[in-house]
Amino acid sequence: MRTIVAGNWKMHTDAGGAMALLGELADWSAANPTAVELVVAPPFPFLAAAVQRAAQPDAMGRKPAILIAAQNCHEQEQGAFTGEVSVPMLRSLGVGACIVGHSERRQYFGETDEAVGRKVAMLLKHGLQPIYCCGEQRQEREAGTHRETVARQMHAALGALTPMELARVVVAYEPVWAIGTGLTATPDQAQEMHAFIRGELRKLAGEGAESIPILYGGSCKPDNAEGLFALNDINGGLIGGAALQAASFIELVRIAGTVKYPR
Ligand code: 13P
Repeated sequence: MRTIVAGNWKMHTDAGGAMALLGELADWSAANPTAVELVVAPPFPFLAAAVQRAAQPDAMGRKPAILIAAQNCHEQEQGAFTGEVSVPMLRSLGVGACIVGHSERRQYFGETDEAVGRKVAMLLKHGLQPIYCCGEQRQEREAGTHRETVARQMHAALGALTPMELARVVVAYEPVWAIGTGLTATPDQAQEMHAFIRGELRKLAGEGAESIPILYGGSCKPDNAEGLFALNDINGGLIGGAALQAASFIELVRIAGTVKYPR
């Protein structure tokens, strides 16, 4: 099973800050090969430079291994959609993955389950890896309807995919009440939901579900990551705040490596 630690920079950094952060991560990656896959999702304007920097060997000729992802994409291939960014544009830059369905996009930009599904299909069509986000709101967790919410989100967005297509998807479970709040799902809550998501994936992908990575997101930090990453159905993290400093992001990658691939 793959293990992935992905950083979602959201609307943070500027040109200088983004390249400084990526430079630190790239140099670390070049010097510290790991079985953990590193994914970094900078804001759109910095993607081209990020792809180039992530491919640059260090002074000793060692190559970093960082996949650059976008944080969003449009569902159509091209057209009169002022201000939007298409999947073919991302592919032409060498961007390898894209976050879709993040709760902030659902909440602030009115993204529906169906639109998210169309974005997933467009990404697969062009060979980019979708990092598909799902997760319940606080009220849904309190009402005990969190499983229904996540199942609905998943079936609406992923239900039309073939098992072969699903094998190229990464799922991220991000309980909305845990994002940027400092509240983390407890290991029990997280494992319970990840196992539930794995079960839903089995309905869609059969045995293939066992190798679809399911990342946890929501106030995941070096001081709570070990308890989460150690869990059976948690295959890494989608990190917001703690991805904005090289030291804490690298620490999360290190923890994931130690926990998932003990020597
Ligand atoms: P935080 O790690 O800041 O809670 O953000 C999680 C997230 O939304 C990643 O996509």
